[in-house]
Amino acid sequence: MRMLILLLSLLAATATAGESRIFLKERPGKNQVAAQCAMCHSLDYITVHSTILDRAGWEKTVGKMINIMGAPINDADKQIIIDYLAQNYGK
Ligand code: HEC
Repeated sequence: MRMLILLLSLLAATATAGESRIFLKERPGKNQVAAQCAMCHSLDYITVHSTILDRAGWEKTVGKMINIMGAPINDADKQIIIDYLAQNYGK
């Protein structure tokens, strides 16, 4: 029981600490981003860059992850991911 209370208070703390640092916004494309963009680094990279990257910036960044970093993302997912990032985490 004590464990449960501890767990619940932890959850409450993260919920109030808030916004999107830990949980990505629930929109179409989120699953692709969560699956493909957390392999090498934390998803914080996305939220941290949301104030400086617009759609073109995200296109470039996702392209860099694929071409230079070697992320194994196919073209269909790439488009979904760029749309998601531009719409939800674009400046
Ligand atoms: C194959 C590994 C890998 C995958 C998968 C990956 N990244 Fe990265 N990413 C990196 C590396 C390596 C860096 C540079 C790390 C550093 O500078 O500490 C980086 C850096 C970044 C940065 C910081 C800005 C920059 O240009 O360096 C952002 C934003 C980013 N990644 C977003 C993404 C997104 C969005 C996805 C999903 C489409 C993704 N990453 C998937 C390896 C990856």
